[in-house]
Amino acid sequence: MSKDTIQNITVEKAATSRINEVDFDNLVFGSVFTDHMFICDYKDGEWKDPKIVPYQPLTLDPSAKVFHYGQAVFEGMKAYRDDDDQVWLFRPDENYRRINKSGERLAMPEFPEQFFFEGLTTLLKLDNAWIKKGFGNSLYIRPFVIGTEAGVMASPSQEYKFMIICAPAQSYYAGDVRVKIADHYSRAASGGTGYAKAAGNYAGQFYPTNLAKEEGYQQVIWTDANTHEYLEEAGTMNVFFRVNDKLITSPVSDRILDGVTRKSVIEVAKDMGIEVEVRPVSVKEIIAAAEDGSLKEIFGSGTAAVITMVKGLGYKGDKWELPQNERSFSQEIKQRIMEIQYNKAEDKFGWRFKV
Ligand code: COI
Repeated sequence: MSKDTIQNITVEKAATSRINEVDFDNLVFGSVFTDHMFICDYKDGEWKDPKIVPYQPLTLDPSAKVFHYGQAVFEGMKAYRDDDDQVWLFRPDENYRRINKSGERLAMPEFPEQFFFEGLTTLLKLDNAWIKKGFGNSLYIRPFVIGTEAGVMASPSQEYKFMIICAPAQSYYAGDVRVKIADHYSRAASGGTGYAKAAGNYAGQFYPTNLAKEEGYQQVIWTDANTHEYLEEAGTMNVFFRVNDKLITSPVSDRILDGVTRKSVIEVAKDMGIEVEVRPVSVKEIIAAAEDGSLKEIFGSGTAAVITMVKGLGYKGDKWELPQNERSFSQEIKQRIMEIQYNKAEDKFGWRFKV
């Protein structure tokens, strides 16, 4: 194994690549990882020793805080290869900002910007061959931070690992997506961690989502925890409703993730001349719109899922199917965003970042 230092990063290369073992045409989201990973440790009050090593299991003390108190946050990003073999990221500054915002809520130390970008770009250059060409192919990038200090005292860890792992990806959802509107369980409460990409926010959704799956849904649209009267987000995605020719989405709050794709959808839709309303969206109005036929589309937005069209929805035992539209806002917006991501269109918003 060779060791090099690139910028501030120590690099230990994998002796052999696993890339030839991967069936890139039949990827299950997030199940295959590239040859290398980035790690940086926090100890004695500072982040130190940023390095890239072959992808491998970690050894942690069984009493590490992450296992007991869920001190873990993460991000989701993607790298895209264009037709000229250039590799791009999409708004990575937003992910850098958000992982620290999430970390702050979980009493974690801020991760330095320089290490984030040097670690990320060095890793992507090393695992460059894993970023496949073609509209829809990407490399899903998962930065995360975990509290690694040993000891079950319920207090913030004094030691952390910041890591980045990467998985070649195609689509997140295989098949149609139908959503159930939550009327009992909640994802987040005011003053809680809903806006953070905290690991526990996702764990708490698994059980109610499993119940919804038994009823034939793939996702739950979460409602506000107090009244269950307002639609907030769809678990792994922010959510948009098209009523007639207007797009409506809930404002972000301390209960809702400030999605990078969400804010891009809003800007692109406005730029396309679509009317967008960012305001509380009531369950009542969406059910009424489903009943009278003015509910034309529901779609989710997220890094992993990009834009996912919803085929149907359910609420308290009633079910509705969404119509086939001559013009699909979700598909047009998705196309525009992907054209920017894959360097197929002018980037008038300044969102692309060349690796
Ligand atoms: C992402 O879109 O990156 C997400 O965070 C969803 C993830 C839970 C798969």
